[in-house]
Amino acid sequence: MPDFASVTHAVQRAIHVLRKEGARSFCFKLLSHVGYRRLIVFERSLEIATPVFAPHLKVSIRLLGADEKENYLAFRPETPASLVTDRLGSGHLCFAARYQGRIIGATWATTKRAWIDYLDYDLPLRAGEVYTYDGFTLPEYRGHGVAPAISVHMLRYFAEAGYQRATRTILPENSASLRARKKAGYTPVGVMGYMRIGPWTRHFFSKIGSGNSTTAISW
Ligand SMILES: CC(C)(COP(=O)(O)OP(=O)(O)OC[C@H]1O[C@@H](n2cnc3c(N)ncnc32)[C@H](O)[C@@H]1OP(=O)(O)O)[C@@H](O)C(=O)NCCC(=O)NCCS
Repeated sequence: MPDFASVTHAVQRAIHVLRKEGARSFCFKLLSHVGYRRLIVFERSLEIATPVFAPHLKVSIRLLGADEKENYLAFRPETPASLVTDRLGSGHLCFAARYQGRIIGATWATTKRAWIDYLDYDLPLRAGEVYTYDGFTLPEYRGHGVAPAISVHMLRYFAEAGYQRATRTILPENSASLRARKKAGYTPVGVMGYMRIGPWTRHFFSKIGSGNSTTAISW
């Protein structure tokens, strides 16, 4: 039985989403709790020139070193330390933007296994494909082009390493993320999601338009 405080919190959160993001976003967030979830799949070819992008802040972007876990946790204290250890241990790369001596934005990338927690789904990756995920900019530095600057840096890094395409997924209601990814030249290629009723889960994949997606997804 939920206690009074958690019910109050849920109601306050619902009112906040309804006011800030509108009825459509509210309905989809509600559906995500009762068993319907979906994400837009974006792709970006690494075989075309990487765009030039200058953020409004003079950030320095580089890979998070194995000895910098504490810096990352100071940036995202809600992330379990074990998750950062697991990601780095599995060969995932974290591209972090530093400003005035601390991390203010970061995005992760994997070329091995793309586990999408929100959909309980292991996205297959083809050879030459990189999946980027968990982009985050500290709230006080948002809107300064930090996330697209990291994206562009990652695209250049993987293009130079011989990869052919980058893939990522975004919640359709996440307008800030949609705008940030557009600046790095990602285009939508499909929608993937699930319907869940009790123990029964069915994933679905639907291609957008006649797009020429090269991911391993069977659309
Ligand atoms: C999505 C996110 C990473 C974008 O990072 P960013 O460094 O602010 O990226 P940008 O500077 O390109 O801003 C993107 C959009 O955010 C919006 N924005 C601008 N100022 C903002 C602010 N102060 N706070 C929130 N959003 C703002 C704008 O719509 C902006 O687009 P525009 O510049 O075309 O107007 C960041 O908003 C974030 O960390 N969000 C929470 C985590 C998240 O949703 N991650 C994405 C998972 S797919």
